[in-house]
Amino acid sequence: MERELIEIAEAVRPLARQGKVAQYIPALARVDPEAFALVLITADGKTYTVGAADQPFSIQSISKLFALSLAMELVGDPLWQKVGREPSGMRFNSLIQLETDKGPPRNPFINAGAIAVTDALLSTTSDYPGALVDELRHLSGAPEIAIDPEVHASEIRTGDLNRAMAYVLRAHKVLENDPVAVTEAYFGACAIAMSAIQLTRAAMFLVTPQQGSARCAEGRHAQRIRAIMRTCGLYDQSGEFAFHVGLPGKSGVGGGVLVVQPDAFAACAWSPPLDRYGNSVAGQAALQHLARLVC
Ligand code: DON
Repeated sequence: MERELIEIAEAVRPLARQGKVAQYIPALARVDPEAFALVLITADGKTYTVGAADQPFSIQSISKLFALSLAMELVGDPLWQKVGREPSGMRFNSLIQLETDKGPPRNPFINAGAIAVTDALLSTTSDYPGALVDELRHLSGAPEIAIDPEVHASEIRTGDLNRAMAYVLRAHKVLENDPVAVTEAYFGACAIAMSAIQLTRAAMFLVTPQQGSARCAEGRHAQRIRAIMRTCGLYDQSGEFAFHVGLPGKSGVGGGVLVVQPDAFAACAWSPPLDRYGNSVAGQAALQHLARLVC
């Protein structure tokens, strides 16, 4: 399998040149566009890696997957009064849809939806995003996982669009907390740094529920989370990703893409250059090759 992963890496790494590293968060614009990792962990515990599998990167919107899982556990059903479960068909940071919908955001994986989830978590737990960091440390067995303070500060400085969304959400009575506090917490979750191997380990609760080991890990909500990953995980490219890769996935503008196949495996690809939807070009290609190989 390691040999096959090396071949996938060789085939897809040149594709990264077709993409562009995220520019709108200045701390991310400095990331090495050549960086690459691919990790596969099977349900029976075998780990295969190629590239910089241990190098931490900004998980960005992949945090939305774990935040949703935590909120389903801690907030419970009232969460669904604050956020929907439909694909948005629009850019991940679209403001216009909030204007026309005048209510809860379409799903928890677009920015507005994740901001609503963050608000619900802030109303439920005294320490957020601390609780998310703890959960990720627990799930991946890596106590060193932390928020990257430079990325966090960079997003706070430049995150006006997200703050605008939070104000619109408060105007429509979706948010209960102060929009600035909610977006700072949301940016903190996005700024968590993890390696591809840590992210893959953390996602194993969506492959084989790990009874009683952590809040998320009990996997009670796994099937529903995978459904939302499948339909909304790559924003307005989720349909294409489902067609080509066929697995529930979640991407982030740090260049990570995580996928899971229940009872079989989790995998994470990392390559910072993004396509126009904000998804990793080589990362998606790597997972397409991998899915052909193992599904
Ligand atoms: O709020 C933002 O725009 C970023 N912190 C996260 C966006 C993101 O990762 C979208 N993913 N592809």
